[in-house]
Amino acid sequence: MSLVEITGLTVAFDGVRVLHGIDLTIGKGEAVGLVGESGCGKSVTWLAALGLLPQKARIGGRVMMEGADLLTMPRSEIEKVRGARIAMIFQDPSSALNPIIRVGRQIEEAIALHRGLTGASVRAEAKRLLDLVGIPDASRRLDNYPHEFSGGQNQRVMIAMALAGNPDLLVADEPTTALDATIQAQILDLIVRLRNETGLALVFISHDLGAVSQVCERACVMYAGRIIESGPTAELFRQPRHPYTNGLFEALPRLDGPRRRFVPIEGTVPDPRHMPAGCAFSPRCRSARENCHHTQPALATLSGTRQIACLHPLSDSPASERQRDFAVA
Ligand SMILES: Nc1ncnc2c1ncn2[C@@H]1O[C@H](COP(=O)(O)OP(=O)(O)OP(=O)(O)O)[C@@H](O)[C@H]1O
Ligand SMILES: [Mg+2]
Repeated sequence: MSLVEITGLTVAFDGVRVLHGIDLTIGKGEAVGLVGESGCGKSVTWLAALGLLPQKARIGGRVMMEGADLLTMPRSEIEKVRGARIAMIFQDPSSALNPIIRVGRQIEEAIALHRGLTGASVRAEAKRLLDLVGIPDASRRLDNYPHEFSGGQNQRVMIAMALAGNPDLLVADEPTTALDATIQAQILDLIVRLRNETGLALVFISHDLGAVSQVCERACVMYAGRIIESGPTAELFRQPRHPYTNGLFEALPRLDGPRRRFVPIEGTVPDPRHMPAGCAFSPRCRSARENCHHTQPALATLSGTRQIACLHPLSDSPASERQRDFAVA
């Protein structure tokens, strides 16, 4: 059963397209990773879906949830979806928490807004949520201000606020990037645990392929405003078929095997104002052939649940098989 179904989503700013038709379905309770280099459209996809882009953005396509299109909903309706049905957390908790209001009150406001609870039950629910996200001594900590929490704890508070409306889907946009490695690992564990306990569906946006493999059963790789490969995380990571996905893995530091040269993908992501003809990755692609430079490949089913947009996918021969241990940088 699908929860949210995005079809042909396009976004343009000032006449320049940055999203070129995203098709993405999130199932109930499913965890889907969205990966790709900076600027490929990961955030814009969900900001557009939830009506959070500035006025000047031109948006096309459909974002269906239970028979209604979020893109054409009146403002009052989409505001009810945000928070109550779909919650989003961002990289930087300081952008979402008000520094001069006690943390408890901020969580309580979110609970009251989305769930219509009142009085003592709101306070009790706020305490339950702080407990749930692993803040010790929750009833006392409700009276603290954000600056009295560490960065990792603030991120937990943000997650508690996101959960205040009992959402069906949590969109976590780089939720751990601003944190140090140990705290990152704890927040990832928390997200995995919350999913198991609540049955929440999750969209996990991250540069960190290791984190995505830990949290998500399916992953979509984006490049220059398109999904270029998707599939079950384990399969995709064992054997990427798109040269770009493969390049992302090559660029990862590895724990296993002999130490070797760090191999970043050469070149840079194209400027949306000057997109190359054909496949947007072709100028950087070591496997590119003549037709790649003038034909745009569509995202098509490769086999089973795997999809790829590439005219010359890498072979699936066992020779390219490899075991990976992720060294999370
Ligand atoms: N408000 C805006 N006005 C104009 N252009 C924008 C705006 N927001 C995003 N863009 C452009 O849209 C494209 C996609 O941006 P997006 O933020 O989705 O990238 P991203 O994949 O989330 O990158 P990162 O990993 O750095 O967060 C980029 O080219 C960006 O410059
Ligand atoms: Mg982003």
